[in-house]
Amino acid sequence: EKIVLAYSGGLDTSIILKWLQETYGCEVVTFTADLGQGEELEPARAKAAIFGVKDVRIVDLREEFVRDFVFPMLRANTVYEGQYLLGSSIARPLIAKHLVAIAREIGADAVAHGATGKGNDQIRFELAVDALDPSIKVIAPWRQWNIRSRTQLLEYAEKHRIPVPSDKRGEAPFSIDANLLHTSTEGKILENPAEVAPDHIYRRTVDPVDAPDAPEIVTIGFESGDPVAVNGKAMTPAALLTALNELGGRHGIGRLDLVENRFIGMKSRGVYETPGGTILLAAHRGIESITLDRAAAHLKDEIMPRYAEMIYNGFWFAPEREMLQALIDRSQVFVSGEVAMRLYKGSASVISRTSPSSLYSSDLVSFEESSIAYDHHDAEGFIRLNGLRLKSWAVRNRR
Ligand code: ARG
Ligand code: SIN
Repeated sequence: EKIVLAYSGGLDTSIILKWLQETYGCEVVTFTADLGQGEELEPARAKAAIFGVKDVRIVDLREEFVRDFVFPMLRANTVYEGQYLLGSSIARPLIAKHLVAIAREIGADAVAHGATGKGNDQIRFELAVDALDPSIKVIAPWRQWNIRSRTQLLEYAEKHRIPVPSDKRGEAPFSIDANLLHTSTEGKILENPAEVAPDHIYRRTVDPVDAPDAPEIVTIGFESGDPVAVNGKAMTPAALLTALNELGGRHGIGRLDLVENRFIGMKSRGVYETPGGTILLAAHRGIESITLDRAAAHLKDEIMPRYAEMIYNGFWFAPEREMLQALIDRSQVFVSGEVAMRLYKGSASVISRTSPSSLYSSDLVSFEESSIAYDHHDAEGFIRLNGLRLKSWAVRNRR
């Protein structure tokens, strides 16, 4: 019997590691994913070794994360409840996918994660595992053990000689989740939505007030819906997002303070920083504005909230998400070209767009006399027929 644990190397998952060994008395294999969280991950190896873990896996998933999860999601201009770019939600199915792959490789019958029993992440991990391999069991220590508080957690650590960093001794720290798409912060004083978020919780964007006084122009090249170049330079997905995170962070772009509805039923308040993703979302809409047909674009906008909800709720590996993905991907065939963005004190605005497959026609729209395809008399009849039912309605209302 073996268990594969999603291991961050932090205090909570270290305690979980010990608890799994004690409770199940079997071999625990740790899996640490590099998603661009901007933290040294090698220490996780030494930490796991202290607990006698023989099989320690630290895997760089940055390219897969951006190419196969973030970019497909961006093709739909996805935001949850109008604002959240789903930075944590989209990472969970990827982590689950690798937990399952390792479990199969080594013949483990269970995987374990450190998500709490109140949040969305537990749902995302477990629904992904269900969809990928129903024979694999999921162990969620936070729902199973009888540790009920931070104090009890620290007592457990002390009893098992797990080193507790001094800043973790007092109050529970903010719950932080970071990857190449975003950093999220929840908990502690943020739990009161009336309380203004303190400045020190922001870690990858400057306050727009302190951003450079001069705007910066950046061009983004797109091919079939995906960003492929920055300022004319071709980049891999992870390198491109990393570059835009740096630019966006410097200009204070992508901060969000949000009260959202968790799938599990409660509201929660979080602060998000999504610098590169925020630039890409605006740029992608910019390139779509000249390359997508109106009805195609509007259909995408109609299904987007459903698609976002599927990702938020943990249904990435579900048939309905794959169906919508096929629709979204089909729409992107001609979404190629270049967008120039102006970054300035917290905002990322499209200032120009060009495409070899543009649908935009200066000839059609121009106020100058021109045009072969357009006859002004057609507009007269078009308006008259559209106005017909409005006239009947108005006449009835006056009676
Ligand atoms: N509320 C966000 C979401 O559900 C962020 C979750 C953050 N997760 C974490 N383990 N801190 O997607
Ligand atoms: C957690 O509960 O582990 C983090 C918050 C969430 O998943 O929503």
